[in-house]
Amino acid sequence: MTDIHSALHHHYTTGTLRDAFMAGIRKKGADPDNLHFADIENGDEFHTGGGVATDDLLAQVPLTRGMQVVDIGCGVGGPARKLAHHHGAHVTGVDLTPEFVELAEELSERCGLSKLTDFRIGSGTDLPLDDASQDLATLLHVGMNIADKATLMTEAFRVLKPGGHFAIFDVMRGAGDGQPSYPLPWSSLPETSFLEPLEAYQNLGAKAGFTTVAARDRSQFAQDFTAKMKAQLAENGPPPLGPHVMMGPSAPERMGNFNAAIAAGQAAPTELILRKPD
Ligand SMILES: C[S@@+](CC[C@H](N)C(=O)[O-])C[C@H]1O[C@@H](n2cnc3c(N)ncnc32)[C@H](O)[C@@H]1O
Repeated sequence: MTDIHSALHHHYTTGTLRDAFMAGIRKKGADPDNLHFADIENGDEFHTGGGVATDDLLAQVPLTRGMQVVDIGCGVGGPARKLAHHHGAHVTGVDLTPEFVELAEELSERCGLSKLTDFRIGSGTDLPLDDASQDLATLLHVGMNIADKATLMTEAFRVLKPGGHFAIFDVMRGAGDGQPSYPLPWSSLPETSFLEPLEAYQNLGAKAGFTTVAARDRSQFAQDFTAKMKAQLAENGPPPLGPHVMMGPSAPERMGNFNAAIAAGQAAPTELILRKPD
């Protein structure tokens, strides 16, 4: 394990995630022993904008039943299950954090999606997949933890079939001055946060062989989403499931710093769609 990987392991692992998630399911009035995808949909995604943002990203790439997808940095498997349930995709989720991968497996099993999803512990810079085996690669709020984005790009390119897409929704470096305050949702310390501007992603993508299909700054969307969440929080308290469950007790501080960084233009949630030529 590299120093970065071990620091990230420490950052993301709570040791209590499974219990907290099952408690959230019960709080919603659902039964973990008779779980349906709808019971956890959107509450199992750990990125700005939740399931809405995932739908917005996926709307920009071709989706066909039976397609092979790799979700790099899959967390507890929310985007992977969405692709499996709504689009009939076969999804391999790869993530560094064993606690997330174990819960991802269990949730898919409990809601009857384990034939379509497979979760593995691994790194986006060394994917456990064959060359040209995937129709789509997705990356949602993960690149911020990856210093070596050149290898991330070459790995995604390697595993995609010709004509395959790489759909990215990352927190990128914005044009604002100064540095964000820590902790952030993805990192407790500056040493494990590697924000890069969109141009860096595009340049490294091009070097790997990709062409850019589309790019979109989602900072305003993120701010609007946060305002809506804050209003709901003030009225009803925290929802039973959501990123705060994955983050544990430091969630309010991490989210506060993240929102401030977006407002200051230091962090910019951004979509980038790349394509491997035919
Ligand atoms: C903010 S979470 C996003 C999880 C998921 N993509 C989602 O949107 O629900 C970031 C995830 O990236 C994973 N991660 C960080 N660096 C990684 C790497 N080099 N390879 C694979 N996963 C990584 C973390 O373990 C964590 O699960």
